[in-house]
Amino acid sequence: MPVYILSLPYPTQAALQTSKRSWGLFTACFGAFPFSSSRMIEIQSQMSERAVELLGLPEDRTCFLLDVGCGSGLSGDYISEEGHCWVGMDISSAMLDVAAEREVEGDLMLADMGQGIPFRPGTFDGCISISAVQWLCNADKKTHSPPKRLYRFFSTLYTALARGARAVLQLYPENSQQLELITSQAMKAGFTGGMVVDYPNSAKAKKFFLCLFVGAADALPKGLGTECSDQETARAKFTNERTRFKNIKGKSAKKSRDWVFEKKERRRRQGRDVRADTKYTGRKRRPHF
Ligand SMILES: C[S@@+](CC[C@H](N)C(=O)[O-])C[C@H]1O[C@@H](n2cnc3c(N)ncnc32)[C@H](O)[C@@H]1O
Repeated sequence: MPVYILSLPYPTQAALQTSKRSWGLFTACFGAFPFSSSRMIEIQSQMSERAVELLGLPEDRTCFLLDVGCGSGLSGDYISEEGHCWVGMDISSAMLDVAAEREVEGDLMLADMGQGIPFRPGTFDGCISISAVQWLCNADKKTHSPPKRLYRFFSTLYTALARGARAVLQLYPENSQQLELITSQAMKAGFTGGMVVDYPNSAKAKKFFLCLFVGAADALPKGLGTECSDQETARAKFTNERTRFKNIKGKSAKKSRDWVFEKKERRRRQGRDVRADTKYTGRKRRPHF
C-alpha cells in the first residue's frame, strides 16, 4: 500500500488551473477526462518505457528511482514492471488519489517540484518525469519566477541523485525559448547531457527527452527515427526500434508465458488476489482475423 511520505500545504489543482494556458497544456497532455483514454495510457506507458531505457540503469540490481509528476502512477507501473522501486511526487492530490486507488507499488508524495526535491544527497539511482517539467515555465502565482523555480528543481534534483545517475525528463515545450530556458537552468545546476529528440521529423510522434547526467559527461544517446551520424559513439547506438531492456537483461520477454508467471508471483508476494496457475496461464492465443 502506498504511503504519503510527506504532505506539504501546496495548492493542488488550483496551481494548475490558474492560468488558462497551463490548463490548455494540461488537457492537451491528458484530455478532458484524464484517465478514460486508453490511447493516453498507451502513450504515457511508451514514453515511460523510453525514459527508463534512456536511464541506462545497471542490469544486475534493483534501482531506486524518483518519478517527478508521477500523476496516476502509469509511469511508476512501468518502473515496477522493470523490477525497480520508486517514489513518485506530484503537486496534485487528486492525481495521487487516483494512483493510491490504483494501488501502485511506489510511495507517493504531495509536493511541488518548483520548491525543490526534498531528499537526502545521493538518494536516487535515477529520475524520470513524463510530461511534467514544462509546467515550471508558467508563473501560476505572482510570486512564481520560472527561471528560479527551474533552477531550484534542477539543483535539488542534482543533489538527490547518486553520482553517475541520470535524469530523463520527457517534456512538451511550448516553444524554443522554453526549451532553452529549461536546458540552460539544468546545465547551470551542474548537469551535463542534453536533449534527445525521438522522431524529429514527425509532427505526431516527435518527443523531447531531456537526458541529464550527474558527474562525467556521457555520450548523449541518439533519438529514435534519426539518421545515424559518423560521430556516433559506441555507447549511443542508433536503433529504429525500442530496445527492450528485459530481453537484454535476460528477463522474460513482455507478455510471454514466463513473464506472466513472474508477474503473478510478484503480485502474490504483495499479498494480492491472484488466480491459481493452470495449463492455460499465459498461453499463446490464436491470431484473430
Ligand atoms: C502528464 S501528467 C504525468 C502523468 C504520469 N506520468 C502518469 O503516469 O500518470 C503530468 C503531471 O505533472 C504534475 N505536475 C505539474 N506541475 C507540477 C509541479 N510543479 N510539481 C509536481 N508535479 C507537477 C501534474 O499534477 C500531473 O500529474
